[in-house]
Amino acid sequence: MRSSGSTQKTVVLCISGGIAAYKAVEIARRLFDLGYHVVPVMTEDAKRFVGETTFSALSSEPVRSSLWNSTDPVPHTTLARRADLVLVAPATANVISKFANGASDDLVSAVLIAARSKVLIAPAMHTEMWENPAVRRNIEFLAATGVSIVQPGVGRLAGGDFGAGRMAEPHEIVAMAQGLLEEVGKIDLAGLEVVVSAGGTREAIDPVRFIGNRSSGRQGYAFAEVALAGGASVSLVSTVENLPPPNGAKMVSVESASEMSAAMKELSKTADIIVMAAAVADFRVEDQKSQKIKKGDGVPEIRLVHTEDILAYLGANRSRRQVIVGFAAETGDPENYARDKLSRKGADIIVGNDVTSPGAGFATETNSVFIVESDRDATYLERVSKRRVAEVVLARALEILSSGPKV
Ligand SMILES: Cc1cc2nc3c(=O)[nH]c(=O)nc-3n(C[C@H](O)[C@H](O)[C@H](O)COP(=O)(O)O)c2cc1C
Repeated sequence: MRSSGSTQKTVVLCISGGIAAYKAVEIARRLFDLGYHVVPVMTEDAKRFVGETTFSALSSEPVRSSLWNSTDPVPHTTLARRADLVLVAPATANVISKFANGASDDLVSAVLIAARSKVLIAPAMHTEMWENPAVRRNIEFLAATGVSIVQPGVGRLAGGDFGAGRMAEPHEIVAMAQGLLEEVGKIDLAGLEVVVSAGGTREAIDPVRFIGNRSSGRQGYAFAEVALAGGASVSLVSTVENLPPPNGAKMVSVESASEMSAAMKELSKTADIIVMAAAVADFRVEDQKSQKIKKGDGVPEIRLVHTEDILAYLGANRSRRQVIVGFAAETGDPENYARDKLSRKGADIIVGNDVTSPGAGFATETNSVFIVESDRDATYLERVSKRRVAEVVLARALEILSSGPKV
């Protein structure tokens, strides 16, 4: 999320306790000189290496390091929301481990866990530590979830040692940070209305039981966040209860396929881009009971009937120039199924994923997808963050929207 009311981008620069902390001074200075708003956050151990006054003097704001001694009651989420980029340099083995394992016992680790922005880490440690299997696993996990990593080089280390694990040079780290910051908000969706559906619908059997599916809603929420960051006005039609609403989205809570259908039909009338990321039930119970079915009444016979095909309805009933994106969650050959679905539903883009492949599908942070359009080769993204999927798909949707009418 960008800082409101200003086009200046904010870098939350986290400094952890490694010998390379002194090089972070130059990183702060270079970022500041490039015009970024630099907010330094230090771990307690980082202060053993470099004094906080140095960072305060060279950044846009004083150093913060505590979750508790702040006028802001929730400093970690405030900082995470302000960040266009969270940069950790140097990133110790300790901070990398905490981040990869979801620990958050200080301000740096809590900011990292709360961040929805891009995150760039610059690992720095002795060769033995860098080559340790646990560190390797943590780095691989973070890379798979979309965290960018400036690979360390070979060179002089603390204590006169020499080897792999030396933090990349400040200019390299700043160049990578700049590249990532230029990407932020690159998809210019200002003035456009984006409607996203998210989560799995629930089809009631009786007032306490339902037929559901495993969709977590995370991919839909990632679409909403990226569209908001691009300046769109966003409506999120959601069945999800356990994810925080993206800041600035108009939330429409629904439960069943028919409720979702009604909301999507209404919102689609003014939408420029529609993303049907929800897993809508194909079947519902024909005869929903208004009273709980009693166990003692025997095993009930439940007859299912088809729900309405929302995507096909939207594809066939465009009231204005708009791009429609659908999803195909499959358990085999997602590309071919997505291509078939594209023509059957009248959609512009179908994102196909094999929900059984590792690191993809429901309740994961990453996804592997085929992005399919008519008359084009599919784009394949392997084990990227759901946010990255949203960025690529929305950038393409914008190109289609700009290229000509599809009413
Ligand atoms: C002289 C010295 C240099 C250190 N350099 C590093 C380093 O480069 N990388 C690293 O991961 N840990 C290094 N450590 C160990 C960390 O300081 C230690 O793991 C600390 O708990 C990290 O805390 P933090 O991640 O909260 O900043 C060093 C320790 C000492 C005493």
